[in-house]
Amino acid sequence: MIYLDNAATTWPKPDETISAMVDCIKNAGANPGRGGHQMSLAAGRIILETREELAGLFGVSDPLRIVLTGNATEAINLALKGFLKEGDHVITGSMEHNAVARPLNVLRLRRGVDVTEIRCAADGQVDPAEVRKAFRKNTSAVVMIHASNVTGTVMPVEEIGLMARENGAAFIVDTAQTAGLLDIDVNRLHIDMLAFAGHKSLYGPQGTGGLFIREGINLEPLKEGGTGSKSESLDQPDEIPDKFESGTPNTPGIAGLGAGIRYVKSRGLAEIWKHEQGLVTRFLDGLSQMRKIQIYGPDDPSKRVPVVSINVNGQDSSEIAFVLDRVFGIACRSGLHCAPSAHKTIGTLDRGTVRFSFSIFNTCDEVDRTLEALSQTIAELSR
Ligand code: ALA
Repeated sequence: MIYLDNAATTWPKPDETISAMVDCIKNAGANPGRGGHQMSLAAGRIILETREELAGLFGVSDPLRIVLTGNATEAINLALKGFLKEGDHVITGSMEHNAVARPLNVLRLRRGVDVTEIRCAADGQVDPAEVRKAFRKNTSAVVMIHASNVTGTVMPVEEIGLMARENGAAFIVDTAQTAGLLDIDVNRLHIDMLAFAGHKSLYGPQGTGGLFIREGINLEPLKEGGTGSKSESLDQPDEIPDKFESGTPNTPGIAGLGAGIRYVKSRGLAEIWKHEQGLVTRFLDGLSQMRKIQIYGPDDPSKRVPVVSINVNGQDSSEIAFVLDRVFGIACRSGLHCAPSAHKTIGTLDRGTVRFSFSIFNTCDEVDRTLEALSQTIAELSR
C-alpha cells in the first residue's frame, strides 16, 4: 500500500512511538498525578517529559503552559470558547478547517461574537493588508490556520501575529498541518495560543494534541473535574495546566507523542522539510506533464506544506480516490476535507478535490507509482 493521507494522520509511526506506548502500558500504567506510589510518579514523569519536548519545540520557556488535549480540535475549542466573550470581534480567514469555523459559528450564535472572515486568494493565500483593515476597537482575537489542509498554503503568520500584537488582540494559530514540519517559535511569531495535533507531523498516536497558552491570557476551562490537586475544594484549581486537564489523561498516547517529537528532533526539521519538499516538487512536476489535471495551491512548492490537491476534468474527486485505493492500493483523501470555506475559496465546493499528502516515510518511488496510477486512472475513466 502507498499511504498518501498524512494530512489526516501520519502513517506509519516511528518504531520509537510504538515502543514508548507499549513500555508505558507495561511499566508505567498507573494514573499520573493521582497517587504517591512509584508507578504513578513514573507516569507523571512521562507526561512532564512530553510537555518539555513540546515546550522546546515551540520556544516556550515554561512547559506547564502547554495544556494536553485529545486533539487539535479540542485545543482550538478551548482557546476560542475559553477566551471570546459577548460583544467581542474576531478576525479569521476563509481557508479555515471546521475545527475553527464551527466553534466560531457557535460563538456567533450563542454569545453574539462578531466574526470577520477575510477572503483568501484562489491559491489559498491571505493578504495581510486585508487583515490589517479588518481590526476594530473591539477586536479581541485573530485566529488562523498556519497552513491549509486543502492546498498546503503557508500563511504569513509572523506578519499577522505582529499586527494582532500591535492592535491588542490575541493571536491564535492552528498548527495542525505545520507542527513538527515548520520552525515554530511562539515568541518570534507573536503567538498567544498555539493549537497542535500530536498525531500528524509530530508522529505521535491519534488522541493527542494540545494548546500553548501565553502567560497573561485567561481562559475558562471547557470541563471541570478531578485533577489530582486541591481535591478538598469544589472550585476548579486555577493553576495551569490542571485548570484545563480534568480527568485521567491519555498517558500511553502522551508517551508516544514524546517519542514522536524526539524522533522529529533526531531527524531534524530541516531534513524532514527537505525530504518532503523533494517529494512534492517531484509530484507537482509529474502532474504538470499530465493533461486534464487542475492543481490547486501555490505554484512554488516552498510556499506549501506537503499537501497537493487536484481535480481531473469532469470527474468526481471521490471516484478518482476510490479507483486509486481499490485498484492501485493508494490511500489519499477526496471531498471537502472538513474545510468547506477553503473549497469555496478555491472554487471546488461542488466536488471537492483529490488530496495527496506526504510524510518523512514516503519515497520518490511511491511518488512515481502514484503518478503512473493517476495517469492510467484518467485514461480509463475518460474512455
Ligand atoms: N483535518 C484532517 C484532514 O485534513 C483530518 O484530513
